[in-house]
Amino acid sequence: MRDGGLADDLLTWYDRNARVMPWRTGPAARAAGERPDPYRVWLSEVMLQQTTVAAVRAFFLRFTARWPDVTALAAAADADVMAEWAGLGYYARARNLLACARAVAAGHGGRFPSTRDGLMRLPGIGPYTAAAIAAIAFDEPATVVDGNVERVMARLYRVQTPLPGAKPELMRLAAGLTPLRRAGDYAQAVMDLGATICTPRSPACGICPWAGACAARAAGVQADLPRKTVKPAKPPRAGRLWIARRADGALLLETRPDRGLLGGMLGWPGSDWDGGGGPAPVAADWRDAGAEVRHTFTHFHLRLGIAVADVSLAATPIRGAFLPRTAFRPSDLPTVMRKAWDIAAGALNAA
Ligand code: ADE
Repeated sequence: MRDGGLADDLLTWYDRNARVMPWRTGPAARAAGERPDPYRVWLSEVMLQQTTVAAVRAFFLRFTARWPDVTALAAAADADVMAEWAGLGYYARARNLLACARAVAAGHGGRFPSTRDGLMRLPGIGPYTAAAIAAIAFDEPATVVDGNVERVMARLYRVQTPLPGAKPELMRLAAGLTPLRRAGDYAQAVMDLGATICTPRSPACGICPWAGACAARAAGVQADLPRKTVKPAKPPRAGRLWIARRADGALLLETRPDRGLLGGMLGWPGSDWDGGGGPAPVAADWRDAGAEVRHTFTHFHLRLGIAVADVSLAATPIRGAFLPRTAFRPSDLPTVMRKAWDIAAGALNAA
């Protein structure tokens, strides 16, 4: 059942309170007939799946300055895109991003399909992203459900089932509210409501446009919802990285295998992450850098010891290749490898 009253109340709130974002066409501009650029909507949605709105802003602006449309991105060198993505994490997304840009450029004349179903056929676009682009860029009344929207629905309807099991139920409830008109504004309005008012710990019910209808609020249990199934703890893993500096300043790096964590990214040669076995990548007088890297991935905590060494111009590595110091930019590294460089640079320069 569609409840037009609730959607209208939310849209009225959004007209006054929409957050300003570099990729967003705000409600006033949309009402004046301005259409969002599907490329920018797509790119921002993929980035927002990785991190917060605040963190995405700078990445988005740099990315779109360098590649202003999907055809430009499709023509980019893989390594350049991976390097710009470093820091956003989860590099499989960057590879999918390029595959998708190339599919749109080659198979669709540089124009994104305008329906959820058409979008779903592109590489790397799942149900959430397809719904978000269809709604935001093309005003298709697709239901967009991210973590914020799940929380809003769980409270509005006082859903007791814990997440993630509650997902289908929350999707159904969200779909029942999605209006046929202004679907793009509405999708962004629910997400903004969840991000700014219906926040996880202390929701600002006093200024919420849905407060009167909210079942959790009526029962005083809003801060306890949504319930969550207790997650298993992240196991600890450990390994070692070897950071060698040649006499001319060149650094020993390797491109990681395409598959697996940090696939295709540049990194320091390392051991396995199951205790740290394996030979050093080059014969050297290795010394411990005196500090370790700690980094948390989605499924585990990682601690990496760091060995550093100065080697001669004749050194012959069994893995990786020496990269001239002038060609090395720490910003090309994924975060965990950049953390290691921060430690190693100190240790090498102290030598
Ligand atoms: N989170 C993800 N996408 C968003 C959007 N378009 N508006 C607000 N929050 C979001």
